[in-house]
Parts: sequence; structure tokens; C-alpha cells
Amino acid sequence: MFAIETKDLSKSFGKTTVVKGINLQVQTGEVLGFLGRNGAGKSTFINMLTGIIRPTSGSFSLLGIDGPSDHVKKRIGVMPDYSSLYGNLTAKKHLKYLAGVSGKTVTNQQCIDVLRSVGLEEHANQKAVKFSIVMKKKLGIAQAIIHDPDLIFLDEPTSGLDAESTIEIQQ
Ligand SMILES: Nc1ncnc2c1ncn2[C@@H]1O[C@H](COP(=O)(O)OP(=O)(O)OP(=O)(O)O)[C@@H](O)[C@H]1O
Ligand SMILES: [Mg+2]
Repeated sequence: MFAIETKDLSKSFGKTTVVKGINLQVQTGEVLGFLGRNGAGKSTFINMLTGIIRPTSGSFSLLGIDGPSDHVKKRIGVMPDYSSLYGNLTAKKHLKYLAGVSGKTVTNQQCIDVLRSVGLEEHANQKAVKFSIVMKKKLGIAQAIIHDPDLIFLDEPTSGLDAESTIEIQQ
């Protein structure tokens, strides 16, 4: 079983093909970095796998389950490339809200534990909208890992960060 397997996965917007016939196999335990210029189609590819958009053609499976599937969504964690969702909620409420939206139930303790693991425990009750970029990235990682998923997608985890913050996020 592969963690990710795609077969001829493609996405077009109108007449423009953005992702063209990707065949990929990612082993369980493997960390895969996806590099490409701006507009290359990285987010589009990830968004197909995480169920945000539908492929135009081709197929994929995650953790051995044919996608897109609601069943597998509970076993994956996603850090999206945008921060517009952070809104006016505190870091803790933000985590609970987003987990709820994707059908996952998380306890208060899980929220506190995951915020500690990314170094945001002192900011748990602060509004995320006021966070710095690196704090938002940390919250994005917390959001992706809070339910102990088997597979994690991180879109642009270090974009916009200074060198020091980049190393911190990588660690
Ligand atoms: N919903 C959409 N409708 C039309 N075109 C889109 C849509 N989403 C993405 N595109 C186009 O598809 C192409 C790939 O975009 P995508 O965001 O996947 O690239 P990327 O590799 O993630 O880029 P970046 O490094 O800027 O994040 C771009 O030309 C973009 O304008
Ligand atoms: Mg992108």
C-alpha cells in the first residue's frame, strides 16, 4: 500500500491544463517535497488530493483508499496555503472550529497539547488574526496534526518567513 498513489491525475481550468498526467507513488513513512515555480500547479495538485477540488481526469488513492473519500479525510491533516480563515477566533477556538468543519472531534486537552508542541501554548487564548506570519504557520501546522493523522499535507509551510523562522518551522 502507498501513502499516496496518483494515476494520470490532471486538472484543467477552462482550456488551460494546469496539472498534466501526474503518476506518483509515495511510500508510507516517506517525506516528499514538491518544488515548482509560482503557478506551476503545486497547490492545485494538493487540493485535488485533499478533496478541495475535483480532478478533471485520472485517479488517486490515499492510504490505500480510492479518493476523494470522506472516510480518508479524517485520517489526513492539511495545512492550506492561505491564512484568510484565521478570522477573529482565538488559536484554541480556531483549532476546534476547523476540526469540527472536517468532521473530527478534538478535546480541549488535544488543543492545548498541540499548541504546546508547536510553541504557541502562551498564545492559546489570543486572537489568531493578530498573529505574526510565523505564528500563523505554526497554527496551520497545529491544525494539520491535531487529530494525529496518518498523512499530512503542508502547502507552503515556510513561504514569507525569514531565515530564522524557516529553520524553526522545519525543526
Ligand atoms: N480556481 C482556479 N481557476 C482558474 N485558474 C486557476 C484556479 N486555481 C489555480 N488556477 C491557475 O492554475 C495555475 C496553477 O496554480 P497553483 O496555485 O496550483 O500553482 P502553485 O504551484 O501552487 O503556485 P504558487 O507557488 O504561487 O503557490 C495558475 O496559473 C493559476 O492561476
Ligand atoms: Mg501554491
